[in-house]
Amino acid sequence: MSKTAELSIDGKTYSLPVFTGTENESAIDIGKLRDQSGLVTLDPGYKNTGATKSAITYLDGDNGILRYRGYSIEELAEKSTFIEVAYLLIFGELPGKDQLQRFRDDIKIHTLVHEDVKKILDGFPSTAHPMGVLASLFCSQTAFYPESLDPNRASESIYISIIRSLAKMPTFAAWAYKNTLGHPVNYPDNSLEYCSRFMKMMFALPAEQYQPDPVISSALDKLLILHADHEQNCSTSTVRMVGSSQSSIYSSISAGINALWGPLHGGANQEVILMLESIVKDGGNIDKWIAKAKDKNDPFRLMGFGHRVYKNFDPRAKIIKKAADDVLAKLGVKDPILDVARNLEDIALRDPYFIERKLYPNVDFYSGIIYRALGIPVEMFTVMFAIGRLPGWIAQWKEMRENKEPIGRPRQIYTGQKERAYIPITKR
Ligand code: ACO
Repeated sequence: MSKTAELSIDGKTYSLPVFTGTENESAIDIGKLRDQSGLVTLDPGYKNTGATKSAITYLDGDNGILRYRGYSIEELAEKSTFIEVAYLLIFGELPGKDQLQRFRDDIKIHTLVHEDVKKILDGFPSTAHPMGVLASLFCSQTAFYPESLDPNRASESIYISIIRSLAKMPTFAAWAYKNTLGHPVNYPDNSLEYCSRFMKMMFALPAEQYQPDPVISSALDKLLILHADHEQNCSTSTVRMVGSSQSSIYSSISAGINALWGPLHGGANQEVILMLESIVKDGGNIDKWIAKAKDKNDPFRLMGFGHRVYKNFDPRAKIIKKAADDVLAKLGVKDPILDVARNLEDIALRDPYFIERKLYPNVDFYSGIIYRALGIPVEMFTVMFAIGRLPGWIAQWKEMRENKEPIGRPRQIYTGQKERAYIPITKR
């Protein structure tokens, strides 16, 4: 028999269905509560609200578990590739050999962007943050592919939009970086795989013989896998929310890029490095910075610490911490901020403030250190996150459309003025 929950208020009792997922997570379905009782639920920041049923990613914050389509993040990070994981997230199963080849080839065919995109890029000053440029270039695809404005098109047409999104993302990202330098852009070299192609567009001088470094490409590939999806986080919820109005895939993802930009979400990886650099510059007094983070009158927070869902450890942080050690050793990089990061983590994890609040390093705490070792400039860190998160945004947008989800439209509790008469300007 299916479970129900009972809610009693003002002498009346309402019976609410309980929905249980495949991993036995349960949710009280309040979809009809307002019709029955006139009540809505109030949950600012959606801290305890399930916005959808999803078959893409499973996350257990108490036990530090993350799985894409049932496969553990640890196994995928070790054995898979980013493109394979993208296929898995978007289409639900690991691809066979031929399917993977076709998917890769399709992506390669679409890496070039319309030359007029360069005119849009030229409109940005070199002071433009690459995340803003990326979101704009991504959204501009609605102009180059107007058929994408109809999200109810045939699935082959949706497939092409998905492929174009994956194919052009590294091109937009590298071009957004070139814009900050005021340098000419590089075109995609389709003889290279995804990460090497991106690195060449980022760093090669025009007409230069560029030799991709396999250590760098494989480290980058792993980082992208770790960021590929994370269920209903701020940017993904944004993609689903915007897409629920039947907005196009490009505009929905562009909104997700903007949501990711903020320092409490994807922007944290940039903030972590700036924080670690400040600590080094300040003489490396870690206790002082821990005290600042704990002081309620000081707005400073330990960036890269804490997570809305993980309250034990972030499994991605564990993988990244090890990867940071490996990559720095392989590249022969000695970075003083890695020592500061390690000390900071050690001290914070023994401090009652962080223990009581279950604050642990999140994915962003060590990712910036790897990006730095790979030569990626700090203002591009959040862009790297966006490249990684793209398959997740696509998968979630596609799932939302296929499930024919209704438009997202939360309720509110009004706390403003009661009705009052207009006061003419002369009497104010
Ligand atoms: N440093 C110091 N104190 C912190 C930190 C931190 N990084 N994070 C949370 N706290 C404290 C809060 O002050 C609060 O204390 P209180 O109970 O005494 O008031 C308590 O811990 C709970 O914090 P909330 O902000 O309510 O937790 P929430 O779930 O809303 O926020 C968040 C989670 C935004 C990630 C937060 O921990 C934070 O700001 N971290 C730093 C930014 C960061 O690293 N963001 C990346 C997140 S991962 C990602 O998006 C990929």
